[in-house]
Amino acid sequence: MPSITKTRAWQALKAHREEISRTTLRELFDADPGRYQTFSYETRGLALDLSKNRMTHRTLGLLAELAKAAGVEEQIEAMLSGQRINESEDRAARHMALRDRSELASAGVDAEVRSVDRRIEAFTNLVRAGRAVGATGKPFTDVLSIGIGGSHLGPMLVMTALRTAETTGPKVHYVDNIDGHQIASTLAKLDPATTLVLAASKSFTTMETLANAETARKWIVERLGRGAVAQHFVGLTSNTAEARAFGITDDRIFPMWDWVGGRFSVWSAVGLSAALGVGWDAFSAFRAGAHAMDRHFAAEPLEENLPVLLAMTGIWNNNFLTFDDVAIVPYDERLRALPSFLQQLEMESNGKRVRLDGSVVDTRTAPVVFGMVGTSAQHTFHQLLHQGTRSVPVDFIAAARPGHALSGRHDKLIANMLAQSEALAFGTDGGGDPHRTCPGNRPSTTILLEKLDPFHLGMLIALYEHKVFVQGVIWGINSFDQFGVELGKQLADPLVRDISASKVRGTYDSSTAGLLRRYRAWRGSDG
Ligand code: F6P
Repeated sequence: MPSITKTRAWQALKAHREEISRTTLRELFDADPGRYQTFSYETRGLALDLSKNRMTHRTLGLLAELAKAAGVEEQIEAMLSGQRINESEDRAARHMALRDRSELASAGVDAEVRSVDRRIEAFTNLVRAGRAVGATGKPFTDVLSIGIGGSHLGPMLVMTALRTAETTGPKVHYVDNIDGHQIASTLAKLDPATTLVLAASKSFTTMETLANAETARKWIVERLGRGAVAQHFVGLTSNTAEARAFGITDDRIFPMWDWVGGRFSVWSAVGLSAALGVGWDAFSAFRAGAHAMDRHFAAEPLEENLPVLLAMTGIWNNNFLTFDDVAIVPYDERLRALPSFLQQLEMESNGKRVRLDGSVVDTRTAPVVFGMVGTSAQHTFHQLLHQGTRSVPVDFIAAARPGHALSGRHDKLIANMLAQSEALAFGTDGGGDPHRTCPGNRPSTTILLEKLDPFHLGMLIALYEHKVFVQGVIWGINSFDQFGVELGKQLADPLVRDISASKVRGTYDSSTAGLLRRYRAWRGSDG
């Protein structure tokens, strides 16, 4: 597989970097007063402003050439047409089919997929109407969603973003971690008679999810009897046999497909918790927004294609300007779950060191992604962004229309966001005081939504999904596998056995063995 670094476009970008290093954002803005118009893009109520990145027309032209050289157009087509682009797992990546109503309604995907989708819709409506009841005949007032990683972060993001005080339907509670504090405190708030438990796990073998599902099953059985499991449990999985073995009945198992990766699975049965919490209409509009972005992604030329532009700006910042990190700062409390969702999406997808053919990459791949909502982030890590020794490109994300009626508050919030990107770009000489000097010339991107409704949330998530895919294509890596997660899981097995056994059987390095001894001594013998 020829390396992308050998292409003419890559070499030209390397040379171009020297040119850009000699200019500042201040100079770029002074030279082109209409820079916002030149470097901002819009589609269906989503605006993407790249103007506060250290780039020129020539940068964008070379980045488009690089995308062409890497075969981005062909790879978009390969993904859309259902080719097995996840080569190491020999699978397609067809999450887009799940948000395409016409595909779901026609022969684009097979009959089973369509019928499961209709079952999810019918079940959502049944529960929300109070017509699905628990073992004592009471409707479900609460949903406990158990799942981790891709089986958790997407649905939780949708719920936190779209559920308001006025939304009707059951309240949804999320549990992901093996840490018993989380499920213990959640169950303490719930009544088993009115709680529906969703076990969301593509593999149905994930340790955390199985442990939490077993705890929840015990909780149901102790209070309502063994027979209640069938009425109170739902399985969202591609391993239907294991879900059945757990005690979930077939009519409560909603399959997902091997061609939907975990972190791309919110559009599948895994999204059920969100659909239950916000309603089927909102969930459908959320998928429709993603589909609108898919169509844009499939049809627009590279130079006008928002996910491609976002991806290539990231490539420029990462591979050429050598910035190691990306901060995600949504100025919207409803998007507080977005940074962790994007952490998984970006770092699990593109945190890779070998290319599709197994050869080691000769480029940097995924940056470290972190973040927090503004304005809280301003009082947490923005000091480093303004005056630290490293430049951290920031993605600022906001919605123009608030979801509350408090006067003046939203304007203040957005004013703060604009001030932050201004300060990063232009800095201050601090009146000559080095302690007060902010060097500026620090890049940021702003994504402004007309409003944060289901449609625009769908657009936003699909925008980032496709960004991640395009970057994977540039680096020549497989964005859809995650073998790196396996080693830690394997090493945990003997430790789980030894941590409470009377005799330690495994052989460990001295640090692990020492900590194990210390833990066992302090933990005591109460199990
Ligand atoms: O963290 C690793 C991972 O495999 C993710 O890719 C996935 O989203 C998560 O575990 C949960 O997996 P499952 O849905 O199979 O329980």
